[in-house]
Amino acid sequence: MKLFIDTANVKEIAEALSWGIVDGVTTNPSLVAKEGRSYREILEDICRLTTGPVSAEVIATDAAGMEREGRELAGIAENIVVKLPLTPDGLKVCARFAEEGIATNVTLCFSPAQALLAAKAGATYVSPFVGRLDDVGHDGMQVVRDIVEIYQNYEFPTQVLVASVRHVQHVVEAALLGADVATVPFKVLQQLYHHPLTDAGLARFLSDYHGAQKLQ
Ligand code: E4P
Repeated sequence: MKLFIDTANVKEIAEALSWGIVDGVTTNPSLVAKEGRSYREILEDICRLTTGPVSAEVIATDAAGMEREGRELAGIAENIVVKLPLTPDGLKVCARFAEEGIATNVTLCFSPAQALLAAKAGATYVSPFVGRLDDVGHDGMQVVRDIVEIYQNYEFPTQVLVASVRHVQHVVEAALLGADVATVPFKVLQQLYHHPLTDAGLARFLSDYHGAQKLQ
């Protein structure tokens, strides 16, 4: 499973890339708003740091506006993936971009039926938002399970990108279900490394080693 980092913060991206486990980046308008500078500038900076896929979302909601913005975003760098909302207009633009070979990430997916449409429209990635589903009392991971099964049934090439990840268990379950990608906030990426037995084990190894050294 690929791991993307879900942030528009260039420092976090640079740091996470240095760990050697991050394959790509996803951004969204809310994440960009936190950074206080232009979307284009941020995307240019990110694309200087990585050749992996970088999702950049359109702001327009009508097909003509999304198409225009999508083309502008795709022109920033070769690794830009145009993020389009799962709406009739968004999928219309997705199908057009698919014919032209422009990579797309269909976002704000909350049901298997929506994911089926994204695959029919030729999306490169579909992003089910598991955390937001859990937040309203639904089972986000069940939606991912259904999408993976539907895509396998028909050999759709659209990649399942698990988004709105809130904790380590979301990442583990995404991997168990065979999702193609999980996009993970910086804090959760850090949490993936930790286990109390690793810390305790390391502390014990070091104290045993240094204790023995003193006796020599
Ligand atoms: C995905 O591409 C989105 O940017 C993101 O995962 C949304 O997560 P949130 O529900 O934590 O805002």
